[in-house]
Amino acid sequence: MPERAAIVTGASSGIGLAIARILGEEGYGITMAARRPEKLDGAVAGLAADGFDVHGVAANVADESEIQKVVAAHRERYGRLDVLVNNAGVGIGATVGEIETKRLDMQLDINIRAIVLFYRECVSMLLQAGGEHHNALVVNTSSISGKRAEGWLSVYSATKHAVVGWTEAMNKELGKQGVKSTALCPAFVDTPMTDFVKGQVAAEEMIRPEDIAESVRYLLRTSPACVVPEIMFIRPGDSL
Ligand SMILES: NC(=O)c1ccc[n+]([C@@H]2O[C@H](COP(=O)([O-])OP(=O)(O)OC[C@H]3O[C@@H](n4cnc5c(N)ncnc54)[C@H](OP(=O)(O)O)[C@@H]3O)[C@@H](O)[C@H]2O)c1
Repeated sequence: MPERAAIVTGASSGIGLAIARILGEEGYGITMAARRPEKLDGAVAGLAADGFDVHGVAANVADESEIQKVVAAHRERYGRLDVLVNNAGVGIGATVGEIETKRLDMQLDINIRAIVLFYRECVSMLLQAGGEHHNALVVNTSSISGKRAEGWLSVYSATKHAVVGWTEAMNKELGKQGVKSTALCPAFVDTPMTDFVKGQVAAEEMIRPEDIAESVRYLLRTSPACVVPEIMFIRPGDSL
């Protein structure tokens, strides 16, 4: 049984899958959660074939009971939680007059409400790990839109700003107890999420998912005296 364990949401592709691989390389047992079971099964099988201790729990993080299901399955398998990666997210563009309530709610539920609920459900295990080694870590995937808002992606931008604010609040609330939180704020990353823009920005000009995932390896290595509240990732020539 691995000595340390992690949960990664949105782990079936893109940034989440790359972070899960890094955590596997670092020796963590990993619960991988994502919505579509077949896609998740493929991602879990890929990491398991490389010798990592992983298991998948298909769950829609917009649903509170499904979040509880993920955390219960993780607790049952590993009995501890050292790293939580709140990465699942969706972005749906619309001008303000065209915002559909269903899509508004979906972005609020997945991008910010689920993060709050995951913290609540995981805080006892995180505090236990923090008490033990003073280096429990929560990584929350925000976006560069969480630092500079975009029109048309207004709801997405608002939810990602909320992720940065929530991360700051959690550092104030839990930091002294050995639970550190970091918001990751990337510009375009080459994942399925950015397929819609690949006509204008070539995939090879986008940040690699591995660039983001390597930052988690760095965060794991920081001393208990060091909190990194956020990391921005921009492309060459981008303005802030
Ligand atoms: N790509 C970028 O340019 C970029 C930039 C900044 C921030 N981000 C953020 O990075 C995070 C990961 O995105 P990505 O680019 O890696 O995209 P991706 O490859 O499309 O991955 C998204 C992941 O989230 C999962 N997911 C979506 N809705 C879910 C739900 N309701 N419940 C559970 N899992 C759900 C997906 O599973 P299913 O496929 O089964 O739904 C998938 O595993 C998101 O929070 C996104 O906002 C991305």
